[in-house]
Amino acid sequence: MKPLKWWETAVIYQIYPRSFQDSNGDGIGDIPGITTRLDYISNLGVDAIWISPFFKSPQNDFGYDVSDYCDINPEYGTLVDFDNLLEKAHSFNLKVMVDFVPAHCSDQHSWFLESRKSKDNLKADWFHWVDPKKDGSAPTNWLSFFGGRAWTWEPRRQQYYLHNFLPSQPNLNHSNPDVCDALMKIVRFWFDRGVDGFRLDAVHTINGDKAPYKDNLTNLNFKLGSLPQDQQPFFRQLHCSAQLNQPVIQNFSKAIRSVADNYNDRFLMGEVDGDNDTAMEVSETFTAPGRLHATYNFDLLAWGGLTVKEMKVAISKAIKVFNKTGRISFAFSNHDVPRVASRQLAPLGLSIEQGDLMQLLLLKLETCLIGSACIYQGEELGLEDSNNIPIEQLQDPWGIEFAPTFQGRDSCRTPMVWNSNEANGGFSDSKTTWLPVMDDHFKRSGLSQAGKSGSIYSEFSSFLQWRKKQPAFMEANEMTIPNGGLKEIIFTRKSEKQNLRCIFDFEKLVTRFEEI
Ligand code: BGC
Repeated sequence: MKPLKWWETAVIYQIYPRSFQDSNGDGIGDIPGITTRLDYISNLGVDAIWISPFFKSPQNDFGYDVSDYCDINPEYGTLVDFDNLLEKAHSFNLKVMVDFVPAHCSDQHSWFLESRKSKDNLKADWFHWVDPKKDGSAPTNWLSFFGGRAWTWEPRRQQYYLHNFLPSQPNLNHSNPDVCDALMKIVRFWFDRGVDGFRLDAVHTINGDKAPYKDNLTNLNFKLGSLPQDQQPFFRQLHCSAQLNQPVIQNFSKAIRSVADNYNDRFLMGEVDGDNDTAMEVSETFTAPGRLHATYNFDLLAWGGLTVKEMKVAISKAIKVFNKTGRISFAFSNHDVPRVASRQLAPLGLSIEQGDLMQLLLLKLETCLIGSACIYQGEELGLEDSNNIPIEQLQDPWGIEFAPTFQGRDSCRTPMVWNSNEANGGFSDSKTTWLPVMDDHFKRSGLSQAGKSGSIYSEFSSFLQWRKKQPAFMEANEMTIPNGGLKEIIFTRKSEKQNLRCIFDFEKLVTRFEEI
């Protein structure tokens, strides 16, 4: 049997750099700040870090709008700072993954600045430029994730350009081979520096088709959900019918994989999604031989939380497709959804007092599944979301667009609190921070929790040490379909040397592991 690769069993700690640790007193987290906290991350016992984008960017979507992929945004530091981080992380045996955004860049990227000027410049065909319809309207009915049309008018070219997110995030034209070459150069740049892998942002939104583009079909199954963001007209269309997830995207998957294969032991994890219930098919397509190593699964990230039964369904769907492989990465939290400690209590019928036990149970659950698990900064502390960021202090463009009905993603992005005795909880010396530090988080500051026995951090850390010694987790990626009563999730992890029955009891909020 071949030994598993590091990424097939990895526990990956996601860092949102803006909110992790400020080192220069400007109220914004930065790379040297992360470097000073690597011991905290390493002591937790994770295998890798994934850092959300820190590249040069006007920060309209907080780094997911890149204006130079090969440089660092000054507020986050310099390339030298990054090299230091990488060296120190490696000295702690932590792999480092960076967040590459291949579908779109910033409208301030030199590629777009040139492209938008005329129809005959050197970058004229690097974005999706389309003439208006006869009546002057946009080429298709496509809508943007963040509100409004996916097409914006450029007077100089008398044409529309495509953007699946903000108008300041124009979609790159992946049908142009020069675009793919430029992106592969960037991939080599970071691999050459020593990064161990990429989280690939929103790869299902890459567009490599050529005009004329088709309209999206109407989502006939659309039901107005209970969440405020469900009301966005975006969800009334079937995007995979035209706008997203078109087969040609796989040219990108293949190209980036062949670059990665020229390096030793690197990892490509794609963020992908589909319409309705098609996420697994999409993940399978993206991870076919010669494409991405794994995809990042959204099914446990449901905004409104999941009941035990729904978790079992979500896990089962993934196992049916990916069992005996490490081609999937599970997550309960990230920088795009409310934190577990806030969104999971109600669907699990639990009280606030049970929050810590629930958090620990969910951390253990995701790290007992096959493949890798991504945990988001602050989950190890059981941080709750902030519900009281004043509307005038909102930063997330999605929230700003739809507030007050829907306030976006700021609530899970507030700065980490490290030390409750320090100003801003030790996050920053600045008078003000980019998002407010939450008072409630002071009672769960990172350094106090890391040093306290019985805390979520300590319990999870001991669990991860134990996990590393179990062949059932580390030597094979096989598990049974989860079963159990209404309030339990039970499955068996199997390997040649060990079969381990894993029992997650959502009534008593405890786990049991039995060798069978
Ligand atoms: C990222 C988001 C970002 C979007 C556009 C994603 O899926 O996780 O934070 O806004 O891509 O790049």
